[in-house]
Amino acid sequence: MGESPVLIADSGAIRRITIQRPDKLNALNAETIAALTEAFHDADADPSVRVVVLTGAGPKAFVAGADISEMADMGAMDGRDFGLRGQALMRTIETLTKPVIARINGFALGGGLELAMACHLRIASDNAKVGQPEINLGLIPGFGGTQRLLRLAGRAATLELCLLGAPITAARALELGIVNEVVAVDALDARVDALATQLSNAAPLALRAILESVIHGGECALGEGLQFEGAQFGLMFATADMREGTAAFVEKRKPSFSGR
Ligand code: COA
Repeated sequence: MGESPVLIADSGAIRRITIQRPDKLNALNAETIAALTEAFHDADADPSVRVVVLTGAGPKAFVAGADISEMADMGAMDGRDFGLRGQALMRTIETLTKPVIARINGFALGGGLELAMACHLRIASDNAKVGQPEINLGLIPGFGGTQRLLRLAGRAATLELCLLGAPITAARALELGIVNEVVAVDALDARVDALATQLSNAAPLALRAILESVIHGGECALGEGLQFEGAQFGLMFATADMREGTAAFVEKRKPSFSGR
């Protein structure tokens, strides 16, 4: 068996998941999609993990898309299965019970942008380029791109990116709300580490309730979403972390959250 296409490393409560195919610009083949799916399930199940950082190896790319050479030979049913496996990975990430930060260190194209959009925060280096270039291959986005980009950036931007297929700069992606922040290449690690550290010290059950309220609640009509938020809000009053957070405020000290 060859080396795994996914590298996993922990520092404290931060889990770093790195896609390791730099010679193919970290393109997502079936093996990488399976390894990532397993890695995210493991991160979710591991109580010592409080935040996940996802990135691509090497200086050039986060992920340059689904693996085109692998797709080139697929028939319709294989293509459908491949798309569904990609979609399932993105949904696993999006519905994780812990925040996931995409560290976008270069190209995030096609499946790469779809992967980044499934994450909860996106921090890009200023040389990053993002786009949905599938049209140039006679294809369409198949890992959720038409839907998540639409919800993130609206119809005008989604149709522009998907119909024209041209990559856009990190600065434009920021303007369109596709990424949260753009930082100089040299500052990328420091910024991502600072955010990951902040999230690793935050109250885990409240982070989870926010993720569920925004992701699940956002897929409901407003009334249902508000009901869902209300139930999650109420649940927080049963947590030790809520007692700790409010007590720490009153006592003018820093809270220490246990995840209970
Ligand atoms: N699938 C498979 N292989 C890919 C890939 C992808 N999506 N993107 C890049 N690669 C491979 C290249 O084939 C090349 O492999 P090789 O050295 O064995 O020939 C290697 O990664 C380096 O890419 P290269 O094209 O030489 O780098 P570049 O700097 O000239 O161009 C890109 C970078 C990102 C502009 C270009 O690689 C590209 O357009 N990739 C495809 C993007 C895309 O259409 N993604 C959507 C797929 S659905």
